[in-house]
Amino acid sequence: MKEFKKGDHSWFVHDRFGMFIHFGLYSLPARHEWIQRFEEISPENYQKYFNNFNPDLFDASAWAKAAKNAGMKYVIFTTKHHDGFCLFDSEYTDYKCTKTPYGKDILRQVVDAFRQEGLRIGLYHSLIDWNHRDFTIDIYHPLCKHPDKDKLNAGKNMANYREYLHRQTREILSNYGKIDILWYDFSYPGSEGGKGHEDWDSQNLVELIRSIQPEILLNNRLDLPGSGDIITPEQSTPENPIVDESGNPVVWEGCQTFSGSWGYHRDEMTWKSEKQCIDMLINHVSRNGNLLMNVGPNGRGEIDSRAMTRLEQFGKWMKYHSESIYACQAAPAEFKEPRDCRYTWNPETRKLYLHFMNWPSNYLILPDMQGRIAYAKFLHDHSEVQFAENNSSVLHGNLAVRAPANSVTLKLPTNAPEPVVPVIELQIN
Ligand code: GLC
Repeated sequence: MKEFKKGDHSWFVHDRFGMFIHFGLYSLPARHEWIQRFEEISPENYQKYFNNFNPDLFDASAWAKAAKNAGMKYVIFTTKHHDGFCLFDSEYTDYKCTKTPYGKDILRQVVDAFRQEGLRIGLYHSLIDWNHRDFTIDIYHPLCKHPDKDKLNAGKNMANYREYLHRQTREILSNYGKIDILWYDFSYPGSEGGKGHEDWDSQNLVELIRSIQPEILLNNRLDLPGSGDIITPEQSTPENPIVDESGNPVVWEGCQTFSGSWGYHRDEMTWKSEKQCIDMLINHVSRNGNLLMNVGPNGRGEIDSRAMTRLEQFGKWMKYHSESIYACQAAPAEFKEPRDCRYTWNPETRKLYLHFMNWPSNYLILPDMQGRIAYAKFLHDHSEVQFAENNSSVLHGNLAVRAPANSVTLKLPTNAPEPVVPVIELQIN
């Protein structure tokens, strides 16, 4: 496998929590960002969303503040999604926000506002483009069932699209200051009518990217093994840290939605609960991952109240518990997670964070921890958590039971503390 230059991971594995934003023409129909494909809408019929694009309440600094207050440290914003609509003022197309009734460069406002709040900037850019006249009709294209598909394809030249993709990559990486992450989406090689590294000329694309932004982090969707800095599972949470072929842990970031759709979806009702969202964040970090949590602002440019509520709930939990997230990672194997708990570990401070995904009441036994704990406290109020070592007897109902040898027994309140997921900090000797 070819060796590729790598980006700078150091900040990324510290910051752990970012905001994904899917915003575009699909925010108007409000029925999923793949609506053009799902409903097989021709470019002519999709044009009405372009003609009506005018997010009058769009306020990038409100988005940035919402992200910051949630505890997020970076943003990844859609410069272009599969429908081809550009949220930046590209020299190479008129299919862009500056030509809609709205008329202004949205990306410019996003990067300025998020930087202002101290967040890092990532750009999502679709490799797929259903609007470009030379992008061939493939299995995912809205016109894939068009009776004259082959005839239409005969007149297309993917080389022109490739050039467009490279030029636009140069634009977004040159005209908007330092970009910390480039997040391409996506390759689907192999099957007939798929597309992969040859279609994008991924090899030269990577060189171009590194020549403009040497430290940038690149995701792994270019169909070019070894070129990605970040593995990007989507809408699923790995059970264990992700490892490479040699078993070494890799840097990964799980991207997740509040409700299944990435773009604003008015009628989608499967919203995850507050607890599910907080659990997700912990589940990612406890397995060495980052959480990239998506919002899909609506056609007026607002993050709706359902998403705002969840962001605020993240913020509330993070206010008291961010120490168990930032700079943390999976705990070393010697610390075995007790039932219904997740550990995160800060190797610098040697603090082990015990997250209660379910409250056990009265006590919790930590196996093989005798002599390891110097002090224990809840994060939310810094109240001390007393513990007993080794063969201590604990009251189990009205039965005294003996904890196993070498264990530590934490003495816990009967009722769960207030936070949706309480956390105990264990200072390790
Ligand atoms: C998928 C979808 C897309 C979404 C992305 C986010 O690849 O095609 O709509 O933007 O996932 O990870």
